[in-house]
Amino acid sequence: MIIAIDGPAASGKGTLARRLAARFGLHHLDTGLTYRAAAAKMLADGVPLDDETQAAQAAEHVDFSALDRDTLSLHEIGEAASRIAVMPTVRRALVEGQRRFAQIPPGAVLDGRDIGTVVCPDADVKLFVTASPQVRARRRTDELQGRGLAANYDEILADLVRRDERDSTRTDSPLRPADDAHLLDTSEMDIETAFRKAVDIVDGL
Ligand code: DC
Repeated sequence: MIIAIDGPAASGKGTLARRLAARFGLHHLDTGLTYRAAAAKMLADGVPLDDETQAAQAAEHVDFSALDRDTLSLHEIGEAASRIAVMPTVRRALVEGQRRFAQIPPGAVLDGRDIGTVVCPDADVKLFVTASPQVRARRRTDELQGRGLAANYDEILADLVRRDERDSTRTDSPLRPADDAHLLDTSEMDIETAFRKAVDIVDGL
């Protein structure tokens, strides 16, 4: 069983993916972390982010068993990940690992931007999770402030819109719903309601 979840930054897809995996006894992979891990390595090594050869190498060396959400969640890393994610060689290296992960029994929930369209086009269930940019920026701001970190709503909103634009307009595997994806707009929903709706969609197989 493979569940594919795609959507823009801060749409709530990560939380949904984790909870669905726990509910259905599946593995979970946040594929954004794989792009973040490659980007973090380049930042740590001081390599320019437009060096595609180095980016591809960093992608090939990502260890899928050591993806740490806490250290990779930094804003600069997300921005850098979005920049190297436009490179086909980077995507090829990471998609290969993501597909291997999806094949581990008994199956997995994968979340990202291109899971239903490219990584797992034959997934049993596909969800495309969205929310308005304003709602996503508000959630992200509250989340950061809740962790005692500085967060400015207007800056976060501008960043999200820029990142959506880059992720949706790139030539290779842009963010878009698969034709057979169920759309879940969580703008007016709390996480509990969104989770129940997602479970209903999976149960409706
Ligand atoms: O979901 P996230 O914010 O952790 O993702 C970081 C960046 O990685 C995102 O802006 C674009 C890229 N990404 C991608 O291109 N394809 C995926 N399946 C997941 C993430």
